[in-house]
Amino acid sequence: MTKAGRYIVIEGVDGSGKSTILEHLTTQLIATNLSPVLIHEPGGTAIGEQIRTALKDRHLPRHTLTELLLFTAARYQSWQQVIAPALEQGNLVLSSRNYLSSLVYQGHARGLGIKRVQQITEQFLPKRYLQPDLTVILTINSQVAKMRRSQRNHQASTQDTFESQGQTFQDKLTEGYELIIKQHPDYHQIDADQPVELIVDQIRQLIAPLLRK
Ligand code: TYD
Repeated sequence: MTKAGRYIVIEGVDGSGKSTILEHLTTQLIATNLSPVLIHEPGGTAIGEQIRTALKDRHLPRHTLTELLLFTAARYQSWQQVIAPALEQGNLVLSSRNYLSSLVYQGHARGLGIKRVQQITEQFLPKRYLQPDLTVILTINSQVAKMRRSQRNHQASTQDTFESQGQTFQDKLTEGYELIIKQHPDYHQIDADQPVELIVDQIRQLIAPLLRK
């Protein structure tokens, strides 16, 4: 891999398996002598983790615009402190979520509007952040996602702000990701209802040419 690093984003609704997939992908990449830098939005910096805790606390009422601004603040810090320096040093950055989550969650599902969220994000984040080298969106049948979420919530015993929303909200998320995919033929959609190894193989095939450049 030459100079400026590579920025890879994995997106998808809660329960689409992003964490497990990234875990397997990272292990495989490390075995090939790469040292990917892992990002999870929101969070990844000291202040970002505090913003994440506040955002996930469903007992803290907030306007949707407040919510977006908090995600954007965490994102800006993560870009400045972690992602941009890692890319400058030529690293491979793997991110679970980026601003597409805000387009879908706050823009579409919560009703701020995808366009408005895009405009607000563009005010603060540079093109390099807005246009990753590879964006993969994991899509999943909403019944399967529901089952995975309820298993996870059962284990965790409490639901956070986003998990506690009803099925209509979850359907809106699915619809939001579909809209984004339609608008961006360069984004790669992968069916998350497949075995993890198959999904990881597909992502590795997409990453391989970027590492040769
Ligand atoms: P998290 O536990 O990190 O879920 P996941 O592992 O699926 O990322 O919680 C983050 C929650 O925040 C998740 O429900 C999605 C939501 N979210 C937004 O609403 N907008 C955003 O911009 C981002 C990054 C996340």
